[in-house]
Amino acid sequence: MKVQTRSKKVNKAWLNDHVNDPYVKLAQKEGYRARAAYKLKEIDEHFGLIKPGANVVDLGCAPGAWSQYLRRRLSPQGAAAGALNGTIVGLDLLPMEPIEGVNYIQGDFREEAVLEQLKAALNGREVDVVVSDMAPNLSGVGSVDAVRISHLIELAVDFAVHHMKKDGALVVKLFHGSGYTQLVQLFRDTFKVVKPMKPKASRDKSSETFLVGIGLK
Ligand SMILES: C[S@@+](CC[C@H](N)C(=O)[O-])C[C@H]1O[C@@H](n2cnc3c(N)ncnc32)[C@H](O)[C@@H]1O
Repeated sequence: MKVQTRSKKVNKAWLNDHVNDPYVKLAQKEGYRARAAYKLKEIDEHFGLIKPGANVVDLGCAPGAWSQYLRRRLSPQGAAAGALNGTIVGLDLLPMEPIEGVNYIQGDFREEAVLEQLKAALNGREVDVVVSDMAPNLSGVGSVDAVRISHLIELAVDFAVHHMKKDGALVVKLFHGSGYTQLVQLFRDTFKVVKPMKPKASRDKSSETFLVGIGLK
């Protein structure tokens, strides 16, 4: 008799959810590398963040769905290739398949040398919008993970303060429970307008949510 292990059951449940997920189907149909594209799309459509000509930085960009969305958004015809009205710099620890018009840097955002590469890629341009979907490898130990998550977000806020236009916007992913209140406070201290958002494309089961900060104080 075969005994089904718990992990096999969990994998099967995940696969089932994934196959039946409308955003997975839509992503396949529309040529996005991940369903995550629809989270940024919803946030952007709600707040009107990405405007023609914008300079955008995409932190934690691999496999590239947010960058694909940004690329189409900045294309005069919404196209995945061809003319681009604006600039996109993407950064991730992991390698990423190229996306036309996206200047991709592979490296760790926590490292000074990588930050220097990012600054060089901006070539003196001030940034309109910084988006961060960065998520650290989780240890499962709540307090350790909270520190890792907070650290990445604090660095993203610091980057925005130094490289973003006064009326720019920062979008970060964060998780309920892991230093959430302190991070909201950091946003309130830094930005004129602070809004939390849980896009429909973000699974209910997931504690992930997003914070949007608009206009530096
Ligand atoms: C959820 S994925 C991003 C998905 C992406 N927004 C998309 O639409 O395809 C999170 C990414 O954050 C990256 N990441 C985590 N820590 C990082 C760090 N310190 N520096 C750069 N990237 C990091 C991971 O490598 C991972 O690819």
